[in-house]
Amino acid sequence: MAVAHALIAQDVAKAYTTGRIATPVLDGLSLALESRELALVLGPSGSGKSTLLAILSGLLRPDRGRIVALGEELWKLSRTELERFRLHHTGFVFQGFNLFPALSAVEQVMLPLGYLGLDRRTAQNRALAALEEVGLGSRVHLRPLEMSGGEKQRVAIARALAKKPQLLFADEPTSALDSVNGKIVIDSLHRIARNFGATVVCVSHDHRLAVSADRIITIQDGLIQSDTVQSETTRSDRLRNGAASADVQQPEPAQ
Ligand SMILES: Nc1ncnc2c1ncn2[C@@H]1O[C@H](COP(=O)(O)OP(=O)(O)OP(=O)(O)O)[C@@H](O)[C@H]1O
Ligand SMILES: [Mg+2]
Repeated sequence: MAVAHALIAQDVAKAYTTGRIATPVLDGLSLALESRELALVLGPSGSGKSTLLAILSGLLRPDRGRIVALGEELWKLSRTELERFRLHHTGFVFQGFNLFPALSAVEQVMLPLGYLGLDRRTAQNRALAALEEVGLGSRVHLRPLEMSGGEKQRVAIARALAKKPQLLFADEPTSALDSVNGKIVIDSLHRIARNFGATVVCVSHDHRLAVSADRIITIQDGLIQSDTVQSETTRSDRLRNGAASADVQQPEPAQ
C-alpha cells in the first residue's frame, strides 16, 4: 500500500483584494510533502511564501484548492475542529515572532502547552527544555522588551518545538540569528523532522538551511518553479562548496 503524504496542497489559488483590484499570489499550486522531511521554500520577496505557509497550516483559507494534512482535509473541518487540529498537530514560527509583550520567555513557551492540557509542571519542564535546546536556558525570565531580535526569534522557535508537532511551519526562522545560533536552530529543526517524524516546512533565504534541507522548492509567479530532493551527496557537496551554489541566495538582513 502506498504511504500517504503528510501534507498535500492541490491546485491552491489565492488572490488578495484591495479596493476593487484582486492581485493573484498563488495560482493553482500543488505540492506533496512527506514526514521526516525538512523542505525549504525559496522565492523572491512578495512571491507568496508566507501566504503559502499560512494556507498549508490552516491559518488562511485559499480561494480555491484543497489542503490535506495528516489525512484531514483542512477546509472541510468546522472552525472548532480546525483550531483543535492546529493546536494538536502544528507548530508555527511567524516571520514577526508574535510574542506576547507581558509574558516571559518561559511563559510564552508554556502557553500553548497549557492549551494542550499539559499540567503546569510538565509544561514548565518541557518549555525549559525547549528554551535550553535553542540556547536560551539562562534567559528564560526575560520579556520581549528585554530580548534582542535573535533571542525573540529563538523563543518563537522554542514555542513551536515544545509542542513536538507533526507539522512544523517556520517563516524565515534564522533571519535574525548569527551563525552559531542559526546552526543551533537548524539542527533543532532537523532533529524534529528526523527524531519525531515531523514534516518541517521552512521559508528562508539562508544558505545554511539549504545545506541541511532534504528538499528545495522554489516558487515564482504563483507556481512551483522547481522542486529538488537533495540526496546526502548533494547536501555534502553543498557543504563542501560553502553552499555557494548560484541557485541559493545569501541570507536576507535581519528584520
Ligand atoms: N493581507 C494582505 N492583503 C493584501 N495583500 C497582501 C496581504 N498579504 C500579503 N499580500 C501581498 O501578497 C504578496 C505575497 O505576500 P507574501 O507575504 O506571501 O510574500 P513573501 O514571499 O512571504 O515575501 P517576503 O519574502 O518579503 O516575506 C505580496 O505582494 C503582498 O503585498
Ligand atoms: Mg514572507
